[in-house]
Parts: sequence; structure tokens; C-alpha cells
Amino acid sequence: MKVVSTESSQVLAARIAERLDVPVLGTEFSTFPDRELYLKTGETDGETIIVGSVVDSDAFVQILLLIDACDSSENTLVLPYAGYARQDRRFKPGEPVSARAVARALGRGVKRVITVNIHEEATLQHFQVPAVSVTLASALGRHILESDLRDPLILAPDKGAGAFAADVAAVGSWDCDCLEKVRLSGTEVRMEPKQIAASGRAVVLVDDIISTGGTLTIAAGMLYEQGAREVSAACVHGVLSSGAYARLIAAGVTGIVSSDTYESACSRITAADAIADAVRKC
Ligand code: R5P
Repeated sequence: MKVVSTESSQVLAARIAERLDVPVLGTEFSTFPDRELYLKTGETDGETIIVGSVVDSDAFVQILLLIDACDSSENTLVLPYAGYARQDRRFKPGEPVSARAVARALGRGVKRVITVNIHEEATLQHFQVPAVSVTLASALGRHILESDLRDPLILAPDKGAGAFAADVAAVGSWDCDCLEKVRLSGTEVRMEPKQIAASGRAVVLVDDIISTGGTLTIAAGMLYEQGAREVSAACVHGVLSSGAYARLIAAGVTGIVSSDTYESACSRITAADAIADAVRKC
């Protein structure tokens, strides 16, 4: 077994390989003058673990190219961050179900797919090969346990993240609650007024994705208005687009931690152990 990865998932891929005690294949990446992508990877053996988060269109193409480059072996696709998963419905006529389109394309040429906290589990069926989504809820919980926060309140910004927040809170038997978010557009959200037992507490906002940070910026404002002592944020996929990090810090969020499914300076939790366990179970 060997592990190979796209450019944007190389750190996580190396960690997975280390957990599995197998080699990582070096890959050469470049771009043709017309901006088409090129790659050349090393020699595969009977089984290849292809690791690539869909962080942008180039990453998506690199995954497709790697699957083809490894066509002589049995491939497991590890998709730590399944980009496009939030467009899992046709909200308006003429729109694609992007989550389905991406899953159908990436499920070809692989025997199975392992992803991490996919936005909606229902998307897994579109890969058309066996697909699982492993959760980092307990990894986030352990990270909070090891921090110096005493008796934190774990808070989901919406009902969709409620079960995830409950799993995080279970690690330390902490209090848990959820806000009520209404999404107005890709960049705008509204929070319904809700009284939270936040007064004097350290609150940790937890979510699967932080993208623009709009959701958590509004949530942090509400919590400080209600007397929270400090508000921090923890998520699985720290996309942090459009200046999200600075926006959250400016809103008084005291720390932002994410996993390495989307590699950044905030990636202080690794998905490698959960992914390696899932590979061993295949
Ligand atoms: C949406 O339902 C997700 O769980 C996140 O809450 C959302 O992606 C966060 O987006 P943003 O950071 O742009 O508010």
C-alpha cells in the first residue's frame, strides 16, 4: 500500500501514511502554458490511498488526474474536505446539484471513498461506490479538554450542527446548546434571538465548516451581548475564505482551531487517526 496526494493535502497525507506505516509517493506538479494541470507520480503497487480535499477547482482536477495515474492499482479515495457538498439540492431552477456532480465524477476509478464530516451524509450515495464519512467530533472534544478552558459551554450555530456539538460536548460532559440560524444567501445569515446560558461562561462555537465566518461572527456578537466571558471557535473544515479569520478575531473570537482536512495555520487537530482507522476497516 502507498499513499499519494494532491498539493493541498500533502501534510495530512504524510500523517496518514505514518499512522498506516506505509510510504508516501512523491508527485511532481506543474502547469502547462495554457494553464492545464500536469502531474506525474511514482510507481504504485497493489493498493493506493489517494488523499485530496476539494479546496478549489485545481485540487478537483488533480484528484481526477491522480485517480487516472493510479489506474493499475486498487484505489481508495480519501476526500478529507468534500468541497461543493453544501449545494446538495437544486435550490433554484437551472442550478446543478453540485454535491452529486462532484461525487459522481470522483467515485469513478476508485473502489471506495472515505470522507470526513461531509456536510450531508445523504451525499455519500452519489459516489456510486461504498462511501463513509468519519467524524472528528471527539478529536475536537479532546482538543478542548487539553486546553485551559474550564467548564465551557459548547454551542452549535444552527440545528444542523446540533448533533455534532452534542458529540463534542460528550467528551467532557459539558453543557451544550444550539442557536437558530437562517441563511439569507451564500454570504448572509440571520440569527433568531435566543437566550443562551452564556453569562460569565467560556463558550466554544463548533461547526463542520467555517467559510466566510459570517455565521460565527454574528453568533459571537450575540453571545457577548448576553454576557459571555470569552468566545472561541472550533471546526472540522477551516475554509476561512474572504477574510474570515480577521473578521472573527475582530468580532472578539479569542481563538480559531480547525483540522488538517483543509490545511492552514489554524489546523491544530489532525484527521489522520480517524482516516487511518477507516482505512484499516476497509
Ligand atoms: C452550513 O450549514 C455550515 O454548517 C456552516 O455553518 C457554514 O458553511 C458556515 O459558513 P460561513 O462561515 O460562511 O457563515
